[in-house]
Amino acid sequence: MDQIIVRGGGALHGEIPIAGAKNACLTLMPLTLLTDQPLTLTNAPRLSDIRTMTSLLQSLGSEVVSLQDGQVLAMSSHDLTSQKADYDIVRKMRASILVLGPLLARYGHAVVSLPGGCAIGARPVDLHLKSLEAMGAELDLRDGYVFAKAPAGGLRGAAHGFPIVSVGATENALMAAALAQGTTVLKNVAREPEIVDLAQCLRRMGARIEGEGTSTMTIEGVTQLNGATHPVVTDRIELGTYMLAPAICGGEVECLGGRIDLVATFCEKLDEAGVDVVETERGLKVSRKNGRIRAVDVVTEPFPGFPTDLQAQMMALMCTADGTSVLEERIVENRFMHAPELTRMGARIEVHGGHATVHGVEKLRGAPVMATDLRASVGLILAGLAAEGETIVGRVYHLDRGYEKVVRKLRGVGARIERIKEVTSDE
Ligand code: EPZ
Repeated sequence: MDQIIVRGGGALHGEIPIAGAKNACLTLMPLTLLTDQPLTLTNAPRLSDIRTMTSLLQSLGSEVVSLQDGQVLAMSSHDLTSQKADYDIVRKMRASILVLGPLLARYGHAVVSLPGGCAIGARPVDLHLKSLEAMGAELDLRDGYVFAKAPAGGLRGAAHGFPIVSVGATENALMAAALAQGTTVLKNVAREPEIVDLAQCLRRMGARIEGEGTSTMTIEGVTQLNGATHPVVTDRIELGTYMLAPAICGGEVECLGGRIDLVATFCEKLDEAGVDVVETERGLKVSRKNGRIRAVDVVTEPFPGFPTDLQAQMMALMCTADGTSVLEERIVENRFMHAPELTRMGARIEVHGGHATVHGVEKLRGAPVMATDLRASVGLILAGLAAEGETIVGRVYHLDRGYEKVVRKLRGVGARIERIKEVTSDE
């Protein structure tokens, strides 16, 4: 497995281009299943998760052609050969469940593997299933698969309230409702920019949707959807991640394509911590105010609250802050696996259930550490940028799922970072 070597040290200066959002692209791609006309996505990120979704759609019979070095995805699904999403693809990526709603809405049936675990286990999909049942779907769970069937006349519009806010369940329900008969009203929906982007693309395809970005969405089902060309919204998580680089190391970095509205709550926290964010014509310019970063408390919440996907990265900043900060993770269980790795670098962190208390130290020390998940991996790189000495991050395949060209982007602003290809014995 490849490793990334980071040598801590100086301030960072320059610009980092921010890519299209992984989590928008992963829900936009299944839209090809809702129409027999061509759907083209531009500003697509070059990531392994996108390649996994491409393989899944191709396994169903969709055509997905990657153009312009992966930044354009040209898709069409006029002759699907299967409505079954196999475990061997779904197990790699939880977002595979997002083909369920579209398959059901357009073809009336679908067989989709459950992601790792089961419908009600860790990171379940029960909220996805309940919303589809509200539209008349009959679901049978067996052998690790969801066997789904729509009523003879197709899915029916329904009034449905989500007991807790779920990004993926909102996306599945929205895509299914677009072709259902009649009106669907969804309450307590997710308000993330990725949901807004999905609604805007669906509207371009002829869907009738109101309320995206608020807690209630109303969808007037139509009988068919057209093709479209749609630009993937900027990745607010990649944006927030790179905004933290000058915050943790010093210097000034302009994140090209960044928009304040995508990271408003995050910017409030950065301001509290002593980080300057200025809007420019090209994006967001970030620098550390004079003096040491101040410790701040963080609670992760559904958008527009502080994003859970930036919690690990923020913890890295808090490790060398002046004071003690408490990070409360309210969205995803067991999302502090980066804490023991940061502790290996000299951080002082106590984890109790959903709370992590970080006592800031003057300096971290480089050490060999292990990436445990996508966002934790980049948190360790951020910590390594500010640490004394060398940090070696293992299992960087986690990184490739959600961050394109990390080494190039950070070297572009002066970071001392390189990727070491693993030399296997037979090479
Ligand atoms: C999306 O996951 C993102 N992934 C995640 O980003 C992100 O962390 C998460 O939203 C929260 O913002 C994609 O968009 C592909 P949820 P999703 O359904 O949709 C519980 C990354 O790093 N829940 O909003 O799976 C669930 O266990 C990834 O890019 C149920 O109980 O998240 C969690 O505690 C990681 N039943 C909470 O809801 C369900 O049916 C929020 O999950 C679904 C979810």
